Amino acid sequence: MKIFVTGASGYIGGSVAALLAGKGHVVRGLVRSTAKAEGVRATGVEPVIGTLDDAALLTAEAQAADAVINAADSDHQGAVKALLTGLAGSGKPFIHTSGSSLVGDEAMGEPSDAIFTEETPVKPEPDKEHRVALNRRIIDAAPGVRSIVLCNSLIYGHTLGAPAQSVQIPPLVAQAKESGIARYIGRGLNIWSNVHIADMADLYLLALEKAPAGSFYYVENGEAAFGDLVRAIAGALGLGEARSWPAEDAIARWGRELAVFALGSNSRVRADKARRELDWRPTRTSVIDWVAAELDR
Ligand SMILES: NC(=O)c1ccc[n+]([C@@H]2O[C@H](COP(=O)([O-])OP(=O)(O)OC[C@H]3O[C@@H](n4cnc5c(N)ncnc54)[C@H](OP(=O)(O)O)[C@@H]3O)[C@@H](O)[C@H]2O)c1
Repeated sequence: MKIFVTGASGYIGGSVAALLAGKGHVVRGLVRSTAKAEGVRATGVEPVIGTLDDAALLTAEAQAADAVINAADSDHQGAVKALLTGLAGSGKPFIHTSGSSLVGDEAMGEPSDAIFTEETPVKPEPDKEHRVALNRRIIDAAPGVRSIVLCNSLIYGHTLGAPAQSVQIPPLVAQAKESGIARYIGRGLNIWSNVHIADMADLYLLALEKAPAGSFYYVENGEAAFGDLVRAIAGALGLGEARSWPAEDAIARWGRELAVFALGSNSRVRADKARRELDWRPTRTSVIDWVAAELDR
């Protein structure tokens, strides 16, 4: 298959693109800096220099491809529009990468019992309404496009592609290394579902093969409270006891989007639908075990 991937120099897109290339697909990947192009090429992916705002380029690449995977940005409306324009009426697959902060709250370290399956209605926080609306537009592009939304939870593990890092664990680690104190927000009782990058990438391949038009799947294989995760980071780095951080200090360090929606919130989803419909069998180690054994020191 000829597959166009956006975010090919990134963590998700780079991992999926490298896996696809390794399976013998012809993969072209959007890269916005020439500096990163060679690293992407080294993973077997042909770099296409451009940005998500180059609508004509995205439409032309989508038209020329047998399938498109959008993994650069869960919220970029213009890129989605341009890619869907290129695929319109073809029935070809379009996988969009979303993120489960769309079910997140503003708990700042407090726990929640709310657990979401694909059938659970979502009433997003105002900051996340646009993400839910974009996913809806993508699902509604079926059946002219075989559109699929994969809604990832916290992803951990080393990239399968060119050098890149995930969104949540690396800033916790960077803060801990710099200050010598690993910090969680508030009481650290907030819980996120999570998935290993290699299991996630396997699901992209399965979705490409057999997910039906207009489908939506959560992606997870377990969950952990941030307090436990940060204690594991402290242990792996050989630091003392992890400590609580007040919300305002966390926001000052990480910014509102990251502190509130990615590190202080609850986002508990279940991926039974992907296991059932796509025969997805995630096998990798839990996030706590991964941090203990494989985190870069
Ligand atoms: N990692 C997670 O745990 C996770 C979970 C759920 C959802 N998500 C969401 O999924 C998306 C991708 O996440 P990621 O972890 O793969 O992030 P990442 O490592 O930062 O990768 C994003 C990639 O997209 C590229 N990109 C960003 N904006 C672009 C633009 N305007 N034009 C062209 N290329 C652009 C980046 O290019 P450069 O290399 O030049 O920066 C990078 O290659 C994000 O929206 C993220 O919020 C992530």
